[in-house]
Amino acid sequence: MSPRRLFVTTALPYANGHFHIGHIMEYIQADIWVRFQRMQGHEVHFVCADDAHGAPIMIAAEKAGKTPQQFVADIAAGRKPYLDGFHIGFDNWHSTDGPENHQLAQDIYRALKANDLIETRTIEQFFDPEKNMFLPDRFIKGECPKCGTKDQYGDNCENCGAVYAPTDLKSPYSALSGATPVLKQSDHFFFKLSDPRCMAFLDQWTQSGAVQPEVLNKISEWIEPGEDGKPKMGDWDISRDAPYFGIEIPDAPGKYFYVWLDAPIGYLASLKNYFDKTGRDYDAFMADPGTEQFHFIGKDIITFHTLFWPAMLKFSGRKVPNAVFVHGFLTINNGEKMSKSRGTGLNPLKYLELGMNPEWLRYYLAAKLSGKNEDVDFNPEDFMARVNSDLVGKFINIASRAAGFIAKRFDGKLGEVSADGDALLDHLEVAAPSITELYAEREYGKALREIMLLADRVNAYVDQNKPWELAKKEGMEGRLHDVCTTCIEAFRLLTLYLKPVLPALAKDVEAFLNTEPLQFADANRLLGAGHRIGAYQHLMQRVDVKQLDALFEPPPAPAVELVVPGGEPIADTISIDDFSKIDLRIALIVNCEAVEGSTKLLRLTLDVGEGKTRNVFSGIASAYQPEDLVGKLTVMVANLAPRKMKFGVSEGMVLAASHADDNAEPGIHILNPWPGATTGMRVR
Ligand code: MSP
Ligand code: ZN
Repeated sequence: MSPRRLFVTTALPYANGHFHIGHIMEYIQADIWVRFQRMQGHEVHFVCADDAHGAPIMIAAEKAGKTPQQFVADIAAGRKPYLDGFHIGFDNWHSTDGPENHQLAQDIYRALKANDLIETRTIEQFFDPEKNMFLPDRFIKGECPKCGTKDQYGDNCENCGAVYAPTDLKSPYSALSGATPVLKQSDHFFFKLSDPRCMAFLDQWTQSGAVQPEVLNKISEWIEPGEDGKPKMGDWDISRDAPYFGIEIPDAPGKYFYVWLDAPIGYLASLKNYFDKTGRDYDAFMADPGTEQFHFIGKDIITFHTLFWPAMLKFSGRKVPNAVFVHGFLTINNGEKMSKSRGTGLNPLKYLELGMNPEWLRYYLAAKLSGKNEDVDFNPEDFMARVNSDLVGKFINIASRAAGFIAKRFDGKLGEVSADGDALLDHLEVAAPSITELYAEREYGKALREIMLLADRVNAYVDQNKPWELAKKEGMEGRLHDVCTTCIEAFRLLTLYLKPVLPALAKDVEAFLNTEPLQFADANRLLGAGHRIGAYQHLMQRVDVKQLDALFEPPPAPAVELVVPGGEPIADTISIDDFSKIDLRIALIVNCEAVEGSTKLLRLTLDVGEGKTRNVFSGIASAYQPEDLVGKLTVMVANLAPRKMKFGVSEGMVLAASHADDNAEPGIHILNPWPGATTGMRVR
């Protein structure tokens, strides 16, 4: 069999945050597969990149006071400790903002356009008149059109679950500026996915074995005709208007590719960047029909990878993925609200900083992973049990039980293996095809179960032969050598089987056994009599429950000082009836002027929609120029008994925030309602 040439990726993480444990799980899943393929002698190129573009990152950068480029670079600078720490062996890490991606995205777009698959349409969208930009759905908020709950996002209601368009929201406002958005027209570019050519291709591709059956089930409604005889697939809006952090669309000033258009192209860009750096020929590699392309992704981004992406590739004349491997989500303790002592998450860096062995996590996750799109749960007790009893108790122990005798009694040299040992080793060797098959299918849990059953067999052999007793018996030297040699040969083979999951441990074992890097082709090759092994050093510790406690311990709360908010304690409790006696109203400040003879007071003329105005004195002269308040809305107590003051009668009171100490630094701030409130509305 000639070696295969594989191009493998994981999803490109958004560059607006550090890795979380879900990312690490995806990388471990892919890394195991890549290492397995390499151990089979195949050529594998394994790349990833930061997904840099899009409105959320642009807005986060602005908030952080950075350019988007700087913001993304700062996140990228923190990636290495995670990847090295968990032995994730990407060949390259790039960015979708790199020059290769700009070039490739524009090339692909031009090809789609030449293929008559790009169309321009005028759409109406919410626009923030203060920020001067079109608002993405998640930056529009308002009242749910169904149940009236306030502050709901532009796509669905968290209270009643209704799904709607941002334009359905009542009293919409921009989450960026608070301004009321206006509907504005804009020309957008669409990728005509509903074109019969695309549908025919996707129908064929998705059924070619490129996706798991359960994934095909999920996506078939997009491609197969529904009850109305039509598939659900519509055309895809691939453009966004400036300002946008992204890639400019050729010949369309002010228009950018929507981030999900250029994100997967980042797979190709990272490979190209890697090939250019290492003197390989990217174009030739991708043009070679023998090159196979695989993407590891999570279940939340299926449609992008199994519909949009293959169609983009196909109709720009490129290689399409051989398969997209979808995994489920990682939860911690079934996502249950964790007790105080167990905290609420698993911080991958903290795991490493506590000195916990990264291969414990690799082993544990592998033991839980299958080739299916199903969720995986991290359970601390289960983690400890599997690592301590299986990994260390069953596997590592085999070496520690045999190696000492080989070193002390036989000068570190292996001996002959007799018939019963041979039978045991044969039993281990014949499992190779089934174990390789399971790895290839990403059935890691099943593979590890099979390997641990083999380890059980070896331990049973040790228990039968009791080398520690043989060592004490006269004339049993030969048998002791035979038994310990069998154990070491078995340990070598088990290590080979576990190597995709435990690469660092395998390296230590290779050094200890004084052997070449273990490959699947060597499965049935023994170290052999006379082979000298090195000194055994302990290969792996057990998990200590204290480590898990520390891992899930919530970060210490900041030392609590007795704080008195605003300089005064919260007032005594009142009933809702007490509160409803106070009639608060939105008031328009019709006029405002200084009060002669007072440095503290301003005279306000207020309108609460009664058909007459009111005269109110307010102690805010230190904070406002009268002319700045005229025409603004504020909140007043409308049913306060009129009060005679030195300068006249005050017919109410405006609300203002201040520290208990009037002269304190923060000053005085009168209330101003959010846009949308109008004169006379009651505040409750
Ligand atoms: N930027 C996009 C992907 C673009 S690919 C061209 C994105 N980024 S992400 O950071 O949100 O997610 C990256 C990957 O992590 C996705 O495959 C996602 O499914 C995966 N996971 C995110 N949370 C996860 C878990 N809790 N568990 C397992 N994987 C999870 O989506
Ligand atoms: Zn609702």
